[in-house]
Amino acid sequence: MKILFLNGPNLNMLGQREPEIYGRTTLSEIEATIRRLAKSRGVEVDFWQSNLEGELVTWIQESAGNFDALVLNAAAYTHTSVALRDAISAAGTPTIEIHLSNTAAREEFRHRSLIAPVCRGVIAGFGSMSYSLAFEAAISLT
Ligand code: DQA
Repeated sequence: MKILFLNGPNLNMLGQREPEIYGRTTLSEIEATIRRLAKSRGVEVDFWQSNLEGELVTWIQESAGNFDALVLNAAAYTHTSVALRDAISAAGTPTIEIHLSNTAAREEFRHRSLIAPVCRGVIAGFGSMSYSLAFEAAISLT
């Protein structure tokens, strides 16, 4: 089994970026935790980040047939990107939307997700643990 973790814009700045909202754990530390979990469960993972919408679209498209599940923190593109939503639908890879913060408890513009309707479920508000929870959810999808 192979799971792809994709991370959108500004998530490369985790650790320094608004720590009161996103915590002090860096993306590399989250990746290390997921890799440890994956090893213990005999699952393969890839873990990528891009600030570019088109690059994320391409990676989602290429997940088809190459990964069993996709865990996607689309960051700000969650709230704006028809292109990411269409890519998830086109690829057909079972996708879990995740967020570190509880987007429903934040500004109104973060309440709407364009990608949620084409995802299998949403995990939000658990800080870096959202990634570990999504890992378990992704395993249970297949
Ligand atoms: C985020 C929430 C988004 O609203 C925001 O734009 C992000 C991070 C989160 O993980 O909490 O960049 O996806």
